[in-house]
Amino acid sequence: MLALTAITLGPVPDWRVSLTDVVVPEEDVEAVADVLRSGWLSMGPRTESLERAFEAYTGAPHALAVTNGTAGLHLICAAAGLGPGDEVVVPSLTFVASVNSIAYTGARPVFADIAGLHEPWLSAEAAEAAITPRTKAIMNVAYGGHPGETEALRELADRRGLVLLEDAAHAAGSRLGGRHLGTFGTAAAFSFFSNKNLGIGEGGMVVTPDEELAAQLRLLRSHGMTTLTWDRHRGHASGYDVVALGFNYRIDEPRAALAEARLARLDEENRRRGELVGRYRAALAGVEGVEPALPPAEGAEPSHHLFTVVVDEGVDRDAVRAALAEARVQTSMHYPPAHAFSIYADGAPSLPVTDAYAARTITLPLYAHMTESQQDLVVETLTAALAAPARA
Ligand SMILES: Cc1ncc(COP(=O)(O)O)c(C=O)c1O
Repeated sequence: MLALTAITLGPVPDWRVSLTDVVVPEEDVEAVADVLRSGWLSMGPRTESLERAFEAYTGAPHALAVTNGTAGLHLICAAAGLGPGDEVVVPSLTFVASVNSIAYTGARPVFADIAGLHEPWLSAEAAEAAITPRTKAIMNVAYGGHPGETEALRELADRRGLVLLEDAAHAAGSRLGGRHLGTFGTAAAFSFFSNKNLGIGEGGMVVTPDEELAAQLRLLRSHGMTTLTWDRHRGHASGYDVVALGFNYRIDEPRAALAEARLARLDEENRRRGELVGRYRAALAGVEGVEPALPPAEGAEPSHHLFTVVVDEGVDRDAVRAALAEARVQTSMHYPPAHAFSIYADGAPSLPVTDAYAARTITLPLYAHMTESQQDLVVETLTAALAAPARA
């Protein structure tokens, strides 16, 4: 007889406002329960349905669901043919997975600086300066879901004959001139990690306009095998060959169903995030010692994955964060720059704007169902912290 024990979360801090918050409505529970009842759990019809829905949503000709965003990034680097001797220009101000995925292939990540203290995305000018005869690709990162210098990077990659890869982990629902981010390059990877706008726990999606690359991505996603378990189950194949050194980066059906259910609400949730960002910007306009980053840009409809601020020089950023934590308001900082990590520090270039941003930024709570009173509390607490002895 199985003994069922309740699982408790342990001592989680009792935040009055957490950085992000995942709500799972009954329709999502039902979508997953339906899959469980069907008895088919590994990659199959729900995954195919999610992929078609994601293609329709983003306008990308080919979408392939994967086990997480990092696996997706590795897949696009591998399918783009990166390997030892190649260099890839990448911002240091990103989650380390963007950089690791390049290094997995044996290629060398080459860090370039961000565009400005309030524009924390890869600078096209800095990216161009980092190009050498060994450069094969540029990896752009849609920081916080913002397009940043996507168009200039596209032009740069074309002019210099380079592959443009997009880390679109933050960019589910982000558009530039009506075109979805992730469709400007050779291939892109999205993340569906819990804290993302399309969060399902673990999951991701790769997209590409290139049919041959899509076929290669499909092979590499599942061990380089020419057929899937699902193909054999439905009688479409009886055996398989292995034609490439692939991985197991497949998603499963419960998570695919959850992602498709959540995709239907994504635009509405991102719109609400945008309203909250507008409220933050208005409320912080007169507050001394801090300025919002990520300014609105012409033609951009960001997913508003993150809302970040930059404190004035001389303000003790960590003391401000500690005061917010004391008031039970959770904050974060995106990101500790990759070039400062021991694994990547050797020979790293000087990146003054990245260093300044990393020393002075705070990420404030933001999620679609955050209430205005929760947001007011964040602003009040931040204002009080900036007025207190935190200011040196
Ligand atoms: C910019 C960026 N790239 C890549 C990843 C990796 O995605 P995942 O956690 O789904 O592997 C993340 C998220 O964690 C991210 O924020």
